[in-house]
Amino acid sequence: MGNEAPKRAAGYAAADLVEPGTLVGLGTGSTVRFAMERLAERIRGGGLSCVGVPTSYQTAIRARALGIPLASLNDAPHLAIAIDGADQVDPELRLIKGRGAALTREKCVAAAADQLVIVVDEDKLTERLSEKVPIEVLPFACALVMDRLAQMGGSGRIREGTAKDGPVVTDNGGLVIDWSFGQIEDPAGLETSIERIPGVVAAGIFSGFEKKTKVIVGSDAGYRVLTR
Ligand code: 5RP
Repeated sequence: MGNEAPKRAAGYAAADLVEPGTLVGLGTGSTVRFAMERLAERIRGGGLSCVGVPTSYQTAIRARALGIPLASLNDAPHLAIAIDGADQVDPELRLIKGRGAALTREKCVAAAADQLVIVVDEDKLTERLSEKVPIEVLPFACALVMDRLAQMGGSGRIREGTAKDGPVVTDNGGLVIDWSFGQIEDPAGLETSIERIPGVVAAGIFSGFEKKTKVIVGSDAGYRVLTR
């Protein structure tokens, strides 16, 4: 385990933005975990009542263990705030997400929220998005999607499990293709093109949320906030 101080600083700062009596989208991953820790602390202290909408089994399990009340997105389709991590963030606050294979639910929850708070450390900031793009697909259409992606350029593969033989199966029963496009010149255009391929459930490029996005960048010294 690496230095967790930057993740803790970002996560705690995000949790402190949550207002009493609100619905909160809970993203997935190791940084969001700290936000949930702090939310639970505030709930236990009596200063906060809130209900979380989790984006994965991992988050739901962790939230229950911490005593954070939960609802599904179907119960609560309008959220005041969503807190989530990211794999890369560019200066326009466009994101690559999906290392944890939770990108589809994360995108739904981000869309449902008035405010999207992204918690990262400095290493996630980049001048241009260039990470492999996680793409959730219907297993039925996997080969078709791979063909269409190959026509668009770049290369990639179906994500394999590490503690399981065979492909990673998402919380939605989908598969994940990790596709490298190199440096991404037009994130919004690429996101649209990928999501237009039949069989694609969601692409791990998040553009279009920039105006409601706040990025909290944690460090050993504390945190700073980026907005557009
Ligand atoms: C999961 C995600 C995560 O939010 C992203 O990978 C960041 O995770 P971490 O905070 O552990 O670095 O997109 O699908």
